[in-house]
Amino acid sequence: MTTFASARGKVILVGEHAVVHGAPAVAVAISRGARARAEPAERDELHIAAWGLSVSPDEESELARAFRAVLDETPGPRPVRVDLSTNLPPGAGLGCSAALGVATVRALDPDATHEVQVARAMQWERVFHGTPSGVDAEVAASGGCIFFRVGAPVERIALRAPLVLCVGDSGRASSTGAMVAAVRARPDGEREEIFGELESLAHEARAVLAQGASGLGGVLSRAHAALARLGVSTPTLDAMCRTAERAGALGAKLTGAGGGGCVVALVDGAETARSVVRAWRRDGFDGFTTRVEPRRDDAQTPSTDSHIEHIEERAS
Ligand code: PMV
Repeated sequence: MTTFASARGKVILVGEHAVVHGAPAVAVAISRGARARAEPAERDELHIAAWGLSVSPDEESELARAFRAVLDETPGPRPVRVDLSTNLPPGAGLGCSAALGVATVRALDPDATHEVQVARAMQWERVFHGTPSGVDAEVAASGGCIFFRVGAPVERIALRAPLVLCVGDSGRASSTGAMVAAVRARPDGEREEIFGELESLAHEARAVLAQGASGLGGVLSRAHAALARLGVSTPTLDAMCRTAERAGALGAKLTGAGGGGCVVALVDGAETARSVVRAWRRDGFDGFTTRVEPRRDDAQTPSTDSHIEHIEERAS
């Protein structure tokens, strides 16, 4: 039998890096993500054709070890061939590895519970990122918007209004592990003070999102300033945030580990989104718009609607 599965990419709205050290983060799933197809084969193998990658689990590359880590945890028919594809740029802070991991886990065992999916995807993530907080795997599997803290139950944030976000790619990949290590190497006092500020901003983001998102732009820009003080921004990411704000964004920040990767900007609608993406393109950066709709199943009033999720992306 052939099985197909998918999983979401994400942007972190507030709390990257601080989340590794016990503070909360707010993350939202985006329309881009990963797809997996699993089918019986003569030997275990995993392919990402678009990247020219083909591995078997007894090899020693990171991808082979990640595949092995998931296979070791998964009951089910073997040998198996997994084919992966993604429209997320790797190493760009959009949760590419977690989306690939969750899609793989789901294709191999479609009946696994959410908790089991996330636990298996974490085995995959550990191969690439050492000690990830788990926020990427969680939001890749759950979709929607979450308030996440390591070791605490995940809180879903019920959006009161759609979020229109522009994502701009600096075109420079970075290593999450290296950026996390660089933050760890900073003086304790300075780091803790910035983490405290990011924690307050994560609480503020949760509150404004639950009320309609007005004020979120300022939270994003303050989060960027805190991350810059932490040393994870770059002149390019700073410039991309300023460009977005000059083009009308309500706020902008780097998203993910920093050192390269992407920025995210909040805008008030499709017209401003087009202006922001156009301004980035004029400067030579790629960008796209993603619109996140409130999910009925996150609402506090129970709903009989079988609606699962509406996220659309428009090429601007
Ligand atoms: O850049 P990404 O998508 O790997 O996101 C990293 C987020 C960090 O907080 C920097 C690391 C983590 O494990 O949460």
